[in-house]
Amino acid sequence: MKVCVIGVGYVGLVTGVCLAEVGHNVICVDKEKSKISSLSEGVCPIYEIGLKELIKRNLNEKNITFTSNLTEAIKSQDIIFICVGTPPLPNGKPDLTALDDVSKLIGSCLNGYKIIVNKSTVPIGTAKRVKKIIKENAKEESNKNGSPIFDIVSNPEFLKEGEAVNDAFFPERIVIGSESQKAIEIMKQLYKPIINQDFDYAIKNSKNTRKKIPVIITDSTSSELIKYASNAFLATKISFINEVANICERVGANVVDVTYGMGLDSRIGSKYLKAGIGWGGSCFPKDVRALAFTAEEYGAVASILNAVIQVNNYQRYRIIQKAMDILGIIEDKIIGVLGIAFKPDTDDTREAPSITIINKFLELGAEVKAYDPVIKKCPEEMDDKVIIAKDVYEAVKNADLLILVTEWPEFSDIDFNKVKSEMKRPNIIDGRNMLDKKQLTEIGFNYRGIGI
Ligand code: UDX
Repeated sequence: MKVCVIGVGYVGLVTGVCLAEVGHNVICVDKEKSKISSLSEGVCPIYEIGLKELIKRNLNEKNITFTSNLTEAIKSQDIIFICVGTPPLPNGKPDLTALDDVSKLIGSCLNGYKIIVNKSTVPIGTAKRVKKIIKENAKEESNKNGSPIFDIVSNPEFLKEGEAVNDAFFPERIVIGSESQKAIEIMKQLYKPIINQDFDYAIKNSKNTRKKIPVIITDSTSSELIKYASNAFLATKISFINEVANICERVGANVVDVTYGMGLDSRIGSKYLKAGIGWGGSCFPKDVRALAFTAEEYGAVASILNAVIQVNNYQRYRIIQKAMDILGIIEDKIIGVLGIAFKPDTDDTREAPSITIINKFLELGAEVKAYDPVIKKCPEEMDDKVIIAKDVYEAVKNADLLILVTEWPEFSDIDFNKVKSEMKRPNIIDGRNMLDKKQLTEIGFNYRGIGI
């Protein structure tokens, strides 16, 4: 089928490449010409495991092309995925400017029946908003036989950064939200290879048993809410266990054991119950705020959602408090930080805990040296007084305190005897409960975890 993907961020690019890989003809569009030209040469602008190889292969097989000519792409393709950003405004309301602009252009370019698919995480009711804008800009409302000239579908993504390619090919469910049975049938055809898991990439790469993927067919509003409620629930699990971790610290319990004991209950499950510094990224912070905003906008109560946000914000300041408990005055101290990305296996620093924590230490007058395996320059939102260390040992040299912020696997293999010899004082805060408390204590570290 002929697919156009508008916006080549990590959702659009992964979606486009996945659909090309399973046999569709895909045109990816973005207004950033530099991004388009590098993609056309097979250069991948984002760090996602497996993505670069898939881009190259599908470029060679001419299943995918990249262009900045949105009008042409809309006119030549039948299924138009909207994958533009919906970043939060200061009050938490998603900024839909890009979505509205694209919808207007789609309306003005309609030259035959199209399916417009909202893939971006969009506020509840956006499908209706997009339909209205397209209608206002379309030359005619229906085909000669009176059937609609376009239909809208909500088809939210559930891609985790660092595992986005895997999540695209092996989703746990596909959600199709639309009021048009015709559009629903076409979308089921589009996803048929994924639903049946009968494509080459699956055979070579699937860790799954290649069972059929469940498809949820619903209305567009319920589809939009499935996305928001899923992310908000995952964020709630994390904030819940972080609150339990803070209680553990007061009563002398071990949150790792508590989590294990909880997770064995199949009604709770062990995933998204890892206590630590809390969540960051481009989704959880934006989506939880957006859902709380929508609730209040429609007169519903968002007390749990607001508490989930509050607990998450507080968790970052727990690190500052722990540092003050250990060091007393922060001014003029040297603090080493391990990890800048919001989670391992990504170069994304959006709303990363490292930014809040490092900016606060710099504001308090500390010298901060941060090392990350992938991020080699100071993120835009981070105070550029931070020193980006070239390796772990530069970050810890003469440090009064070391803080593990992102749980990159390589941090488990650090030679902590060497680290201790490089540091001024052997203080360590393990913000992800990733390191071996017993081993580090035996080496002579003053080890602090989160809830342990
Ligand atoms: C999330 C959702 O998982 C995904 O389905 C959605 O499409 C996009 O948002 P992502 O933000 O990429 O994906 O990362 P994820 O792995 O879910 O982690 C989100 C945050 O929660 C990270 O900051 C991570 O460090 C934190 N986290 C995760 C915890 O603190 N504890 C956990 O147990 C799990």
